[in-house]
Amino acid sequence: MLNFKPKNIVILTGAGISAESGISTFRDKNGLWENHDVMDVASPSGFDRNPELVHKFYNQRRNQLNSENVIPNAAHKALAKLEEEFEGEVTIITQNVDNLHERAGSNNVIHMHGELMKMRCVESGKILLWKSDLSVDTKCPCCFKKGNLRPHIVWFGEFPLFMDKIEKKLNDCDLFISIGTSGQVYPAAMFVNMVKANNQLAIEANIEETNISESFDFHLTGKASEVITKLVSDILAL
Ligand code: APR
Repeated sequence: MLNFKPKNIVILTGAGISAESGISTFRDKNGLWENHDVMDVASPSGFDRNPELVHKFYNQRRNQLNSENVIPNAAHKALAKLEEEFEGEVTIITQNVDNLHERAGSNNVIHMHGELMKMRCVESGKILLWKSDLSVDTKCPCCFKKGNLRPHIVWFGEFPLFMDKIEKKLNDCDLFISIGTSGQVYPAAMFVNMVKANNQLAIEANIEETNISESFDFHLTGKASEVITKLVSDILAL
C-alpha cells in the first residue's frame, strides 16, 4: 500500500476510534443520536430553549469520560507512538471531544468540534478547563454570573474550529488517514477531496464502508485498535 516514505501525515479521527474505549458513537446502532434529538442537545437553539437539558447531556458524557474504565485504546496509543517515533510531522485532526488522544500521549491534536473538558463564557468568550458537572446555576469564574457558561463544543449550525490551520495541514500533507468516521458531517467529510485534489495518498480505516469510501485510495476494514496498530508499524518500518 505504501510505496514511499511520507514526510507529513495528517490523521482525521471520528467517534469510531473511541468506540473500543467504551464511548458511544453517534450513528451506529444505539448511538447517541438514536437516544437524543440532536437539535435539543447539540444546537444553539436547543441550548436557548432548555439549557438544563443540554448541561445534563454533556454532564453525562463528561462523567463517562472521567470514569476510570474509559481509557485510551490501542489505536490512540499507536497514533501517539507514530507521533513519537516518526521522523516527519504527524497531526491529528479530531472530530471527537474526548481527551483520549492526549491521554495516550499525542500532543499535536486539533479539536475541530471542541472539547468536553472545556467550558466557554458566552459573554467574554473565555475558554476554561472544566471537569465537573455544570448547571444553569453555576457561576462563571470570569464574570461571576449564573447561566453564562456553555460547553466548549461546536454545535450543529456553528463553525468548526481551527479551519485555517486545518486547511494548511491538509494542503501540506503527503499522507491522509481517516479513522472511524462515517463521513456524514461537513467539512470533515470533504477533507479527503482536498487531499486528493493535491494528488496525495488517502487511506480510510473503518469497520465498514462509508459514504465517502470511494474517494480514498485504500480502505482498511477492521477495528481501529487492530488496523491502526498494524498501519503504524508498517509506516514506522518504511
Ligand atoms: N473501529 C473503526 N471504526 C469504527 C469502530 C471501530 N471499533 N466502531 C465504529 N466505527 C465507525 C462506524 O462504522 C462509523 O462509520 O465509526 C464511525 C462513527 O460514525 P459517527 O457515529 O457518525 O461518528 P463521526 O463520524 O465521528 O461523527 C462526526 O457528527 O454528530 C456529529 O459532532 C459530531 O463529531 C461528530 C460528527
